[in-house]
Amino acid sequence: MTDQASNQMWGGRFAAGPDAIMEAINASIGFDKRMAAQDIAGSRAHAAMLAATGVISDNDAEAIREGLLTVLSEIENGTFKFSTALEDIHMNVEARLKEVIGEPAGRLHTGRSRNDQVATDFKLWVRDQLDAAETGLLALIRALLTQAEAGADWVMPGFTHLQVAQPVTWGHHMMAYVEMFGRDLSRVRDARKRMNESPLGAAALAGTSFPIDREMTAAALGFDRPAANSLDAVSDRDFALEFLSCASICAVHLSRFAEELVIWSSAQFRFVTLSDRFSTGSSIMPQKKNPDAAELIRAKVGRIFGANTALMMVMKGLPLAYSKDMQEDKEQVFDAADHWMLALAAMEGMVKDMSANRAELAEAAGSGFSTATDLADWLVRVLGLPFRDAHHITGSLVALAEGRGCDLPDLTLADMQGVHDAITQDVFTVLGVENSVNSRLSYGGTAPAQVRAQVARWTAMLDA
Ligand code: ARG
Repeated sequence: MTDQASNQMWGGRFAAGPDAIMEAINASIGFDKRMAAQDIAGSRAHAAMLAATGVISDNDAEAIREGLLTVLSEIENGTFKFSTALEDIHMNVEARLKEVIGEPAGRLHTGRSRNDQVATDFKLWVRDQLDAAETGLLALIRALLTQAEAGADWVMPGFTHLQVAQPVTWGHHMMAYVEMFGRDLSRVRDARKRMNESPLGAAALAGTSFPIDREMTAAALGFDRPAANSLDAVSDRDFALEFLSCASICAVHLSRFAEELVIWSSAQFRFVTLSDRFSTGSSIMPQKKNPDAAELIRAKVGRIFGANTALMMVMKGLPLAYSKDMQEDKEQVFDAADHWMLALAAMEGMVKDMSANRAELAEAAGSGFSTATDLADWLVRVLGLPFRDAHHITGSLVALAEGRGCDLPDLTLADMQGVHDAITQDVFTVLGVENSVNSRLSYGGTAPAQVRAQVARWTAMLDA
């Protein structure tokens, strides 16, 4: 048996090295090298703690500390040679540390295992991404608030079933997305709070007999406390699942908004003009301006939710504690994180750059008998009719206008009185879209005054 043939990190009982296929299926270095900085931060905290508790000497700890900084700089400047034979980032770093500092490197792995090491590294990586998502969501929400404030009183059609329903304001529509992304923000913050417990020191699964100080490493790595059960600490991937759940729900929101932008920017709607910076042309049709960024954002939910499903299935049915299945966690999370951040940034860019076409919005706002509910409400409020009767009378008036090929405000008072003789000229005041939106002052309603109040509430919350 030679050192070359078996693994230098765990090859003691092995007479031969792995089959090439075994090496290929086993190695994670191709992707987990993304956690190099987290791995080294975890090792530095662990080494400092081992020295503070007297498990290793201060000299060894200092050598380890210096050596790890050298390894980190090699990785950062691209001179580090990653080895598939060394399986993963943990063993790649440790093996290089041994080359750099010699014997003390072998003391670093005292009182820990790759099981608590990988859980720690991955948590730190996911935590950074939760922070990045928070930043991205805040920027997107602020861009939406700017749109909402500018267009608090711009009228547009509100839809249900994608059929014109009632007039709303542009600001109100933007604020609906502020609420959605606001919930995403609160989910991200909540997930971060719950996940912030340190697995380090759980060792392989049972804890360790060395007098380690888990509070110390937890604090050094910015965790609130050490995870309280070593079996759970090495087997838990809830933090990754919650990250992917947050990402999935947010991606659903992004896709819904993206879909609206695709519809709104079409020649049939012309509600918005997307900027050239977030559109593309066609190589064959010179007139085309395509909402590619919106379409790609709409699509991202596929891979993000796919990652969520994939990791749920990996974790399902795994017995305690660590199983190698869990190595399949990283690529899903890495991919979802990359595309979530990209989608958030692209949406923020589009929202900042797009311009609402006020004239088109206003014209569409009055189409489709959008003030029919206002007419029915008038019959209730002024004539004292039961709402069901008012609904029926209004339906007859809509049918009359439809037959004439005109809108409700184009009917004459005589037309109205032909359907219900108590209707007066006053009814025409509620048939205009401006009146319609101004009247919807109920809390959370579409009236410009309500929209401005909601913009102010959100701005104060974000600034606090
Ligand atoms: N590369 C492994 C992973 O990503 C690290 C932990 C390996 N632990 C073990 N006992 N083989 O999960």
